Amino acid sequence: MARGRRGRLGRLILALETSCDDTCAAVVDGARILSNVVSSQASFHERFGGVVPEVASRHHLEVVNAVVAAALEEAGTELGDAESIAVTQGPGLIGALLVGLSSAKALAAAHRKPLIPVDHLEGHVAANFLEPDPLEPPFLCLIASGGHTLLAGVREHSSFQTLGSTVDDAAGEAFDKGARLLGLGYPGGPAIQSAAEDGDPEAFEFPVAMSERGLDFSFSGLKTSLVYRVRDLGSEETGRRRADLAASFQRAIVDQLVRKLERAATSGDWPAIALGGGVAANAELRERTRALCEELGLRLKLVPISLCTDNAAMIASAARFTEPISYPDYLGFDAFATGSVRAA
Ligand code: KG4
Ligand code: ZN
Repeated sequence: MARGRRGRLGRLILALETSCDDTCAAVVDGARILSNVVSSQASFHERFGGVVPEVASRHHLEVVNAVVAAALEEAGTELGDAESIAVTQGPGLIGALLVGLSSAKALAAAHRKPLIPVDHLEGHVAANFLEPDPLEPPFLCLIASGGHTLLAGVREHSSFQTLGSTVDDAAGEAFDKGARLLGLGYPGGPAIQSAAEDGDPEAFEFPVAMSERGLDFSFSGLKTSLVYRVRDLGSEETGRRRADLAASFQRAIVDQLVRKLERAATSGDWPAIALGGGVAANAELRERTRALCEELGLRLKLVPISLCTDNAAMIASAARFTEPISYPDYLGFDAFATGSVRAA
């Protein structure tokens, strides 16, 4: 039973997000987050050093109903109060996405409510539209997560222009693979960040992929370079120099991200820079972006870490600016692993 109805203050949206290994549900009222529940599966994937898609789908199935119930309960509201149900349609792991999409369709259909399918990356951008202190377009947004790395030029709430993206691995993937090579835990980003605290970022030199003028990213050469470095050092020395390796590796990833952000910022007329995606939780990236904004005289928007990593509040936020689909038109909708909602 809900703790007491909040009533319909604005446009209440219940959102679900299951594109990777977090089962997420949130209730958002306009730009205000009423609840944002995340059930992390990290401990189940840790032993494999990465997300196992089949394991992720099974866990989503097991907990999705409880996570939705918790989000409604925490918001002090009931399903009937929601004006619409939003859900991540893609991109992501197809089996994982299908659990969220099917659940959302079922919840929406049972109440004849509209469904709002959302693009996961538009969700990461839209985290910046939430309170406190919502950011208004135009702004430049770096999205760096386990599956994506891209520079988004945001000129309106409902869409963005991709200015650059990774040609191989994502930044978060580089953190995860690097952590595995260094014998650190999963997820790799926080593990490398914490190991790096005791290390010297200049101890080792790693390549920073910088093409002449482009805004695309590349991290596979960096990963290969760490493979060779670890092989040359041997396991004992790698263990002894782990903090230095972590700090230098992190420096190389952040260097590339910040240098391309700077390139995009100085070649456009953006008044603000925002960060999104799990890698935006990285302390060195946040600090270096802060310094860049100070240097260029731009506004910096850093959402709390809970809104950087995957969550459903950001999906509800994107849904506010997306056309709802009426019942029953969405019943045949499919999830998509790659591409975007707009192409679907
Ligand atoms: O956005 P997210 O939660 O899920 C995806 O959409 O992929 O991002 C997860 C990624 C993982 O690769 C994880 O290692 C990375 O974000 N990450 C970090 C940090 N926290 C999470 N990377 C660097 N530093 C962090 N503190
Ligand atoms: Zn994400």
